Amino acid sequence: MNNADYQLLKAQLGALVSGEPDVLANASNFVGLLYNALDDINWMGIYVLRDNELVLGPFQGKPACVRIPTGKGVCGAAAATLQTQRVSNVHEFPGHIPCDDASRSEIVVPLVIDGVLVGVLDIDSPTIDRFSETDQEGVELLCSAFCEMQAGRKFI
Ligand code: SME
Repeated sequence: MNNADYQLLKAQLGALVSGEPDVLANASNFVGLLYNALDDINWMGIYVLRDNELVLGPFQGKPACVRIPTGKGVCGAAAATLQTQRVSNVHEFPGHIPCDDASRSEIVVPLVIDGVLVGVLDIDSPTIDRFSETDQEGVELLCSAFCEMQAGRKFI
């Protein structure tokens, strides 16, 4: 497996989204960029926080569950705690919500714009323990860069 170059991805993300004010377009390109840059993943997408529920947004991969209550599953845990959830084996995570049967490990990073939780970025892999600490730091870097670039705008 190749390690992703997260600094390069940050620069590419900036080039992709900095000239565009539409958050939906930018979120879609963020997911498209990262999905194609990471090895060994089967699903990636943004869930948008709407009225205390996470609703499916821009994604790459198979159709997925549409609504996740805050506090439920890996995504809901990230939203409820505002902490990244890095799960090495989803079958050992209490309350994990299976969407794609292939998924074995998962990382979910909260998206916070102007100090407010607006959603989460969810990445699934068919390999147990796919996401290292370096991946966590890299994905968190990209999420905070993305959120900073959307500051002052209404989320999707
Ligand atoms: N597994 C997630 C649900 C979303 S899918 O993986 C696309 C969870 O437990 O929150």
